[in-house]
Amino acid sequence: MAPRLKVLGIAAGPRKGGNSDTLLQRALLGAESLGARTEEIYLSDFQVTPCTECNHCLTGGSCNVIDDFQPILGKILNADRVIFATPVFFMTVTAQAKLLIDRCQCLWVRRHRLHRPIIGRPGIERRAAVIAVGGSRGKKMFDSVRWTLETWLDALDMKYTAGLFVNRVDEPGAILNHREALAHATRLGRHLADPASRFPETPTNILLDE
Ligand SMILES: Cc1cc2nc3c(=O)[nH]c(=O)nc-3n(C[C@H](O)[C@H](O)[C@H](O)COP(=O)(O)O)c2cc1C
Repeated sequence: MAPRLKVLGIAAGPRKGGNSDTLLQRALLGAESLGARTEEIYLSDFQVTPCTECNHCLTGGSCNVIDDFQPILGKILNADRVIFATPVFFMTVTAQAKLLIDRCQCLWVRRHRLHRPIIGRPGIERRAAVIAVGGSRGKKMFDSVRWTLETWLDALDMKYTAGLFVNRVDEPGAILNHREALAHATRLGRHLADPASRFPETPTNILLDE
């Protein structure tokens, strides 16, 4: 029997129940419908301080600043799949997201300097998907979100599999009128959590331009 996948949803927006969070929850429901075990965390519930660039991690690949980063990292390393959802703030991810991302420099060191792979469960490739929403009609903002998160996921040794990017979604709850985006989010979660899914070599990025 295929193992039950563990899917971690990370909400990087400060607005609980906001547009990106709503899409994330749809994706998690999609994953659950295929039997995955899911958990959602809100980065705004945690206190993660910035990377101090102390370079402690260069020797052992771990961070010596002790705060809420360690429990979040534990959840990420324990997950088979991650779905990361962020609103666009000033053309990129939120500050909450960036704090977490920068602290993962220790994993980048582990992987690329110390050549210590991050091992998941045997036989399960670690994969991730990204969701981002922005209020403006711009599209370029999703490039910076994607670059940042692709680079982060590489440090985590997780394969970036799919992205869902939706522009012109601004007011709280506006996403509820966007049936196409909601349906894509559910599909994204199902696909990610389906042990039988085949994933293309290059990520599938969906940009919904209203
Ligand atoms: C501080 C801040 C910065 C923002 N910057 C951008 C931006 O650069 N581009 C954009 O399209 N929308 C921007 N927005 C709008 C949000 O991305 C938009 O309202 C989104 O729907 C919020 O998602 P949420 O409900 O998940 O928080 C910004 C909003 C805030 C509060």
